[in-house]
Order: sequence, then structure tokens, then C-alpha cells
Amino acid sequence: MNIYTLIIFLYFTIFIIDSAPINSKSNSISIKKISPKHSLKEVHQFYKDYFMLKYQNIYATDQDKLASAKKRLSESVNLTISNFLGYYGEFTIGNQAFKTIFDLGSSDLWVPSQKCTQHSCRIHKRFNESLSKTFNPIGTPFSIEYGAGAVTGITGKDNVLVGGIETVGQIFGLVKEEIGKLFALQEFDGIFGMGFDANSKIKATTPFSNMVEQKAVTNPYFGIYLQRSNDTGHTGTLTLGDIDTTKFIGNLNYNNVSTYEGEYKSWILDVDDISINGIKLNFKNRQALFDTGNNLVFMSYEDAATYHKFINGSSLNNDGIYTVPCNTTDQVAYIIGGVSYNIDQSDLTTGSDCSSSVQPGGGGDMWLIGDAFLGNVYSVYNIKDFTIGFAPVSK
Ligand SMILES: *[C@@H]1O[C@H](CO)[C@@H](O)[C@H](O)[C@H]1NC(C)=O
Ligand SMILES: *[C@@H]1O[C@H](CO)[C@@H](O)[C@H](O)[C@H]1NC(C)=O
Ligand SMILES: *[C@@H]1O[C@H](CO)[C@@H](O)[C@H](O)[C@H]1NC(C)=O
Ligand SMILES: *[C@@H]1O[C@H](CO)[C@@H](O)[C@H](O)[C@H]1NC(C)=O
Ligand SMILES: *[C@@H]1O[C@H](CO)[C@@H](O)[C@H](O)[C@H]1NC(C)=O
Ligand SMILES: *[C@@H]1O[C@H](CO)[C@@H](O)[C@H](O)[C@H]1NC(C)=O
Repeated sequence: MNIYTLIIFLYFTIFIIDSAPINSKSNSISIKKISPKHSLKEVHQFYKDYFMLKYQNIYATDQDKLASAKKRLSESVNLTISNFLGYYGEFTIGNQAFKTIFDLGSSDLWVPSQKCTQHSCRIHKRFNESLSKTFNPIGTPFSIEYGAGAVTGITGKDNVLVGGIETVGQIFGLVKEEIGKLFALQEFDGIFGMGFDANSKIKATTPFSNMVEQKAVTNPYFGIYLQRSNDTGHTGTLTLGDIDTTKFIGNLNYNNVSTYEGEYKSWILDVDDISINGIKLNFKNRQALFDTGNNLVFMSYEDAATYHKFINGSSLNNDGIYTVPCNTTDQVAYIIGGVSYNIDQSDLTTGSDCSSSVQPGGGGDMWLIGDAFLGNVYSVYNIKDFTIGFAPVSK
């Protein structure tokens, strides 16, 4: 496909923002994710479909696969998706508070407009233009496609406050129509993209880029710390314009983000290899999209098979899901930029049924790396240097 349209689709990367930061850094936001209690077949299928659609220009080479993923996803919306979509939280725009997902995989900010009168909008917080003294209408129509739906509306401008950081004149989408059943089931009202400007569908500067341009933050990066305490909740912090040095050990190792079709659009890195119990699996020329919205790691069928060959006692069940012994002691490490990052054994499985945290999905040489890796590192995303830094998390 020529036109890169990273689908904004429901965003997995949700951060809950407490009004009082719990962190030593005033610009840190405490974040929380409701994770699935069980790794069911449906959950894996949902993730696979969702990410195939979210990153369809990278992943979906096969239109039939895409069509069936779309169909399955639209039928699976009964799953309480928000229970496993990720972190969510609050921010304000024009002094009106919204619940949102902070999504590494998209680059637009939108909220439902008061002018959207359909059910999915009415059950959510809607933006009332007349309640904001700082609102400026722009009125450019936009449409953002999702795997199982779409949102359409017009653009406007207003001031954003998030984690104590205020920016003025943020261009955002006022959604007037939400197409598809998906939105009615979500706890969040809108989406807050944390990707690169080049991927903005409404052709706006992203909220974080604006923070940088307006010097509302000191540095052009944000840091993410994820902590998995148990299978009912993930907590962590998002630090805007700063790094929380209490959250990691040693130095951050920086990696250059890869362009896609000549532009920086997503948080993509080269991955050198994976080692298991010290043995390199010999993967070559692999890349990965990093997305905190995803609990798992998705690889091509071939790569997932290679990986599990080295995990003692793993097997592929009849549902096409890899399982790993719950008491596995295998030591897995991801090698990125020449540095090995160990994965905690608890991250080799997900949920209580000990399905593997690495599953087949997507395709080609592009992996999708989520919390099963990101929970083991402090990660720093720099929008000016185009780098991601990792350091082992301090536990
Ligand atoms: C989804 O929920 C609706 C209403 O609760 C129900 O009628 C329908 O059968 C469910 N669909 C599936 C696929 O479970
Ligand atoms: C929007 O705000 C105006 C001014 O306070 C109010 O009259 C109107 O009812 C509000 N609209 C909705 C849908 O709440
Ligand atoms: C799991 O973690 C969440 C959030 O940190 C907490 O509210 C909950 O009580 C914990 N549950 C158990 C069983 O420890
Ligand atoms: C990353 O990019 C910088 C600047 O473009 C360059 O100096 C550096 O060598 C690159 N690092 C790697 C590992 O490619
Ligand atoms: C797998 O487990 C068995 C039994 O615990 C052990 O004998 C064997 O060495 C293990 N293999 C690897 C590759 O770790
Ligand atoms: C894990 O449990 C199985 C079944 O109880 C046992 O056979 C195996 O030796 C255990 N492996 C490890 C590494 O403890």
C-alpha cells in the first residue's frame, strides 16, 4: 500500500491522570491499566485483529485477511474491550475534563462534540464549545478510520492541560459521528495520540509536539514506566518532558527510530535478536513497533514458532495460541541496539492460563512489542532526536 494510514482505532495506551501527582516529578502522571484477568482465545484473537487493523499498512499484505479481521472485530465488540485495551486517564481541553487514551500508535487528539447526539456520544463526556472562553473554531472536516468503525467531525482549537502542563491553541478533532459499535463500550471519551506529527490525520501538530514547541516542557521527550503488580491492574507513570531516574537502573541506551515510507510516523526500532537461556535465536533484520496498548508481543507465524522451539515445554494449542509452562524458568532477553534486556519470567506468560506472551499475528519482519517487554524497561520517547531509550526497570 502506498498511502500510510496508521489506523487510530481504539487506543490501547491509556493513562489515568491523578489530579495530585504521586511522583516526585511534578510533570509525572500516574497511569493505570486494567488488564485482562484471563488470556482467553477471544482476547488473543481480538488483539491480533485489532493490531492488524491499527497498523494495516504495515501488517496486512492480504486484503482477505484484513476483511476477515474487520468482520471478526465488529462481531467481538461484546468483549469488554476496555478491560484489556490499556491505560486510560484524564486531561482537560478548554477546561472540560475528558477520559482519554494516550496512544503511542496515533497522532491525533479528539473528543466527542456536544453536537454528536448519537448514543455512543451521549454516554460519554462531550465538548461544549460555548462553555469554553478559549475555544476557536476551525471547521476543517476530518475522518479517521478504525478497524471496526470510524469517527468524523470538524477541527477546532483550544488549550490543553495534562499532568500540570498547559499548552495553548491545540488543534483537535470535535467528533460529530462515531461509526461502529465499538465506541459505546469504551470507558474513554476520546484519544490522545503520542505519535509523530507526520502521522496526524487532521494535519495538526500533536499535543506533545505543541508542549515542546511552546516550551511547556523542558525536553522533547516523555518517559514511560509500567508496573505490573498483579493480573487485575497495571500502574505506572508517564513523565512529560522529563525522565524519572528513580524508575530505572544504569543508563538509558538510545536507539534511532526507523522511518516508514521516508517519514517518522511510528515508534519503530530495529531489533537485533532474541536470546533464550543465552542462545541467540538468530533473527535477522527484524523491526518492531512499540505500543503500550498491547499486553503481548506479536510476531509472524514463523518467528513465533522459532521462539517457542526454545521455550521448554511450550506448545501450540488447538486455538492457535502458544502456551508456556506456568513455572517456566527460561531466561528470555531482547537484544536491541546491541544491548540485552532481560524479561522477567512472569512476563513470559499472560493471565492465569499461562498462554505465552508471544503470539503469532501480523506478518513479515515487523513485530509488535507491547507490555510483556515494555514492563521490563523504563522507556523514553524523543520526538526531536527520533530515538527511544531503554534501561532496565528498577523493581
Ligand atoms: C452481544 O450482546 C448482545 C446484547 O447483549 C447479544 O444479543 C449478542 O448475542 C451478543 N453477541 C455475541 C457475538 O455474543
Ligand atoms: C452548552 O453550554 C451552554 C452554555 O452554558 C448551555 O446553554 C448548553 O445547554 C450546553 N449544551 C449542552 C448540550 O450541555
Ligand atoms: C492488584 O493491583 C491493583 C492495582 O494496583 C490493586 O487495586 C488490587 O488490590 C491488587 N489485587 C491483588 C489481588 O493484589
Ligand atoms: C543514530 O542517529 C545519529 C544521528 O542521526 C547517528 O549519529 C548515530 O550514528 C545513529 N546511531 C545508530 C546506532 O545508527
Ligand atoms: C527442558 O526441561 C527438561 C526437564 O526439566 C530439562 O532436562 C532440559 O534440559 C530442558 N531443556 C532446556 C533446553 O532447557
Ligand atoms: C514445572 O512443573 C511441571 C509439572 O508440575 C514439572 O514437571 C516441571 O519439572 C516444573 N518445571 C520447573 C522448571 O520447575
